[in-house]
Amino acid sequence: MEVGADTRALVTGASSGIGRALARQLAARGARVGLVSRSRAELEALAAELPGDGHVALPCDVADRAAVEAAVAAFAERAGGLDLAVANAGVAFYGPFRELAPERIERMTAVNWLGTVWTARAALEPMVAAGRGHLAIVSSGAAQRSFPDAAVYGATKSAQRAFGEALWHELAGTGVGLTVVYPGEIATALHDHEKERMPVWYRGGPRAADPDALAEAVLAAIGDDRRAVAFPRIVGLLGIAHGLSPRLADAVLRRLRGATAAPRR
Ligand SMILES: NC(=O)c1ccc[n+]([C@@H]2O[C@H](COP(=O)([O-])OP(=O)(O)OC[C@H]3O[C@@H](n4cnc5c(N)ncnc54)[C@H](OP(=O)(O)O)[C@@H]3O)[C@@H](O)[C@H]2O)c1
Repeated sequence: MEVGADTRALVTGASSGIGRALARQLAARGARVGLVSRSRAELEALAAELPGDGHVALPCDVADRAAVEAAVAAFAERAGGLDLAVANAGVAFYGPFRELAPERIERMTAVNWLGTVWTARAALEPMVAAGRGHLAIVSSGAAQRSFPDAAVYGATKSAQRAFGEALWHELAGTGVGLTVVYPGEIATALHDHEKERMPVWYRGGPRAADPDALAEAVLAAIGDDRRAVAFPRIVGLLGIAHGLSPRLADAVLRRLRGATAAPRR
C-alpha cells in the first residue's frame, strides 16, 4: 500500500522513538495521522508540529481494550476511514527472569502482546469492511532470536511474530496487507529507565540504529506489501542462522556480543 496524501494512518506509541519517527514520515508524505500513547501533552504537541492538517492526538493505554476501540473508532470517524494502522507501542523490562517483578511481567504482556491484539482487532474492522488497508506490527529482533535477561520481553515479541504470521494468511483476499517489523537495537527511550541494569551483551547507545532510518525501511516495506522487514539486515541474518541451527546462532552471537549473549551450559 503506497502511503500518500489520501492515507489515514494510526500509530500507537507515537509520542516517542520509532512511533514518533513513523508519524513524522507519514505526515511528511501527506498522510493524516492518528497519534496514540498515554501522554496527552506530547501527542498534542506532536499533532500541532507535524506537517499537514487533520492529525489527531488520541491519548489511550493500549492495554485497555475498550480505550483502544474508542480511539480507533474516533480516528476513523474523524478521518472518514482508516488505511494504515501501526501497532508499535511497547515497554521493556530487562533482567534475569527470576528477579523480574510479576507486575513488570504483566505490564509487558498487557502492552506488547495484548496491546497489539487490541489494536489489530479494532483497526481491522474498518479496513476489512472497506476491502483495503494495511496493518504493521512492530515486533523485535528478539522474536528472531530471544536473548538472556530478556526472556519475557522476547516472549511478547515472539507472540507478535506468531500472531502476524498467521494473520497474514487469514487476511488473504480481504484487500488488507500486513507487515511484521523486526528492529534491532534502535536509538530510542525504550531502555532509559533501566540504563544501569542493561545486560553486558546489549550495545545500544550511540551504536544503535537511527529510528528515522528504520521508519523509512518500514514505509518502504508497507509500500511493497512485504510480509516482514528486518532492520538492520543483520537481524534477519541472525533469524536465518537461528532457524538453521540455534548452535550456529549461539556462535555468531558470542562472536558479535561476547559470552553473555549466549552463555555455554
Ligand atoms: N528501541 C529498540 O531498540 C527496539 C528494538 C526492537 C523493537 N522495539 C519495539 O519498538 C516499539 C517502540 O519502542 P521504542 O524503541 O520507540 O521505545 P520508546 O521510545 O520508549 O517508545 C515507546 C512508545 O510506546 C508508548 N507506550 C508505552 N506504553 C504504552 C501503553 N500502555 N499504551 C500506549 N502507548 C504506550 C510510549 O508512550 P507513552 O509513554 O506516552 O504511553 C511511547 O510512545 C516497541 O514495541 C519496542 O518493543 C524497539
